[in-house]
Amino acid sequence: MNPKTDGRVEVVEEVKFHTRIKHKFIDTYLSIWTNNVAKNHMTSKKRIPSLEIYDLYAASGWCYCDELTQYGLEGERWEGSALLAARCIGEYPKGTRLFLNSYHPDPDIRQQQRATLEESLKPYYAKYPRLRRNTTITSLPVEKAVVQAERMVNRNFPSIFILDPYEPKQLPWHVIERIGRMQGQYQLGGAPRKPEMIINLMTSYLQRFSDTQPEFATIALGMKEDLWRSRFEAYKETSNARDAFIQLYRDRLGEFYIKPPVVALVRDTSNRAVVYAMLLCTDSDAGHFMMAVKGIQELKRWKVEVWEPQARKMTVLKKDQGQTFLNV
Ligand SMILES: C[S@@+](CC[C@H](N)C(=O)[O-])C[C@H]1O[C@@H](n2cnc3c(N)ncnc32)[C@H](O)[C@@H]1O
Repeated sequence: MNPKTDGRVEVVEEVKFHTRIKHKFIDTYLSIWTNNVAKNHMTSKKRIPSLEIYDLYAASGWCYCDELTQYGLEGERWEGSALLAARCIGEYPKGTRLFLNSYHPDPDIRQQQRATLEESLKPYYAKYPRLRRNTTITSLPVEKAVVQAERMVNRNFPSIFILDPYEPKQLPWHVIERIGRMQGQYQLGGAPRKPEMIINLMTSYLQRFSDTQPEFATIALGMKEDLWRSRFEAYKETSNARDAFIQLYRDRLGEFYIKPPVVALVRDTSNRAVVYAMLLCTDSDAGHFMMAVKGIQELKRWKVEVWEPQARKMTVLKKDQGQTFLNV
């Protein structure tokens, strides 16, 4: 998944096609800010709240699925989380901070990833005049990036943390905990304001390695193995392993959020296996309602009308060529 050149000046990150659904989930929620929140405040003449976005796994900007081209399907690059966040902060009337952390453990890839991200942002800086000034880019392992973010975050106004690792062990629970504790004075639904979070919970990894490498779940859940396993087994009596992990994670998130996360499952192109679950955590009445009701419906409609026809074609073409599914 290293950044690659696609023949144009820009460089893109090669990803699987199901990744588009993840980005649509993120975009759907950020669009609620740029469309609804901004408009409602303008019509009601109330002061608009400022907004900050912290993308701690910002990668390189653009995404591209090579399989689309390989199978002769229409395939344009699309915006990854960093560019979605840049567009949101640029368009939102009071977008005050964009914090992008683009890290990779390999120093060469890290350097390339960051350079690509900086290049990808240039047209956004040109389009949105305040954006460059409001943007901070770091290249730190998440444990350090969250400390940096903590120093900058405005606790009394809305902020969104985007947490999109490759594997569950790259997002240890203590990082979530640290963000959840960034609490302000202002009360929201009976609890102090805290950042909102968009989390990619890699359920397929957790399921696959629950027996052979249980430490992945131990790190992601921040619980000792005997503790999470006993609860996991109890949940599994009435649900499957994936839902049991989601339920365990929801329980932990409940230590910070009054409202349950809004969840969308992301399936691979064969539409069978669930690869991960996208979670939105917010205690805002309006944000939660808009995403749980309208946003999820919009996402489903888009998936059926736009994404699935292409995914089906890809699956048929792969079968014709005798390939196995390699979608995770
Ligand atoms: C799934 S990708 C993120 C994709 C990106 N959010 C997007 O939408 O385009 C995961 C990213 O996490 C980075 N990463 C890996 N280990 C990390 C760590 N310990 N701390 C922070 N980032 C890490 C990877 O280099 C990669 O850029």
